[in-house]
Amino acid sequence: MNVATAEKPGTGTGPVQSGDAYFSCQGLQSYYGESYIVQDISFDVKQGEILALLGRNGAGKTSTLRTIARMDDPQLHEGEIWLEGQPLHTMADWQAAQLGVGLVPEDRRIIQGLTVEENLKLAQIEKPLGWTLDRIYEHFPRLAERRRQEAVTMSGGEQQMLAVARALARDLKLLLLDEPYEGLAPVIVQEIEKIVAEIKGLGITTIIVEQNAVAALELADRALILDMGQIVFRGSAREVLDNADLRHEYLAI
Ligand SMILES: Nc1ncnc2c1ncn2[C@@H]1O[C@H](COP(=O)(O)OP(=O)(O)OP(=O)(O)O)[C@@H](O)[C@H]1O
Ligand SMILES: [Mg+2]
Repeated sequence: MNVATAEKPGTGTGPVQSGDAYFSCQGLQSYYGESYIVQDISFDVKQGEILALLGRNGAGKTSTLRTIARMDDPQLHEGEIWLEGQPLHTMADWQAAQLGVGLVPEDRRIIQGLTVEENLKLAQIEKPLGWTLDRIYEHFPRLAERRRQEAVTMSGGEQQMLAVARALARDLKLLLLDEPYEGLAPVIVQEIEKIVAEIKGLGITTIIVEQNAVAALELADRALILDMGQIVFRGSAREVLDNADLRHEYLAI
């Protein structure tokens, strides 16, 4: 298969777009200052689906997540973003968060000087609320054990769990995970995978960016591969796992 033409109709599982998708972005173009980074990206995600957003370093994965979450940088110049019929492209980051967009950034942004519980409570200052603390502790027993510990003193895996739990503490509809497995031991990766699968079971939609592409693909329903700010492949996660040429060319695995 010629990977350069992988996005042609007839390859993959067919068009990813439909008229009334749960989440949809169309023609996204975003910039850091003058630098044109997210270059005309369009895709849809169904409710409860897990989409793996993959690509080499610098492909534009983080920039795409940040654009969807309506962060100030990169700045969205063109395109539309819709979640459950709501136009995210007209909103600021805090409004997107209120509507249920939860970005868990690579650096996790755990607040220093606060305990685990204080970090969670801080997420619940604003409505609409998601899971109660009791429900969070039920699903994350490690966080329950460490509720009074200063959060930044926990292990990387525990901090990642806290970052995901914090997203669930708001009314979450679209979870955006940027490299959640980075730096974590395989056993901890498995725990996070279990949590993401549980979240899917609740009907929450997830976009996961990962360098550990195989792990992300094993969890995901569908995959997009980015290169130089553009989509070069869309299809099922299985197709990427089965296509060695594609993985060599764009994922270096
Ligand atoms: N704040 C910024 N200002 C200017 N350019 C940026 C900024 N952040 C990222 N870029 C550029 O945008 C492009 C895409 O970067 P991005 O971080 O989205 O890639 P990525 O796919 O997430 O890469 P990685 O796998 O390394 O995390 C790169 O060329 C990068 O240099
Ligand atoms: Mg990145």
